[in-house]
Amino acid sequence: MPILWRDAFSIGFRQIDNDHRHLLDLINAIEAALTVEQAMSKLHNAIDDLAAYTRRHFAFEERLMIEASYVNYEWHKAAHQELIEQLKQAAEPILSMRGGDSNTTLAVPAEARDALVGLLRHWLVDHIIKEDMQLKSVLS
Ligand SMILES: [Fe+2]
Ligand SMILES: [Fe+2]
Repeated sequence: MPILWRDAFSIGFRQIDNDHRHLLDLINAIEAALTVEQAMSKLHNAIDDLAAYTRRHFAFEERLMIEASYVNYEWHKAAHQELIEQLKQAAEPILSMRGGDSNTTLAVPAEARDALVGLLRHWLVDHIIKEDMQLKSVLS
């Protein structure tokens, strides 16, 4: 089930909201890639895309927080680092699988698939609601 954007996710700062929408698309692409048989390399690319865009987005938010002299900057930055670590850990069993043409997403063990999908269901959304939402009054 894809995660759908809801108005409740909006922090009212266009560039951040757009980034969050795009991150949800990338999360949904990973879940889709895990449920349809395809080359492992496609799944690896989908995970790499999410990891790369996440790092860019977090760096962007951190720059805005510094510019705004946001008091909870360290707390928010630590949350970002924790999220990156969680993604790394959940993705590692899949990324370490050989990505050759003969290997498809069917080879992903259910345990590894469930761990990644389970994390991604709440991973970004919880952060938006808990930490990013507090930027609403700071940035707008
Ligand atoms: Fe964010
Ligand atoms: Fe954030």
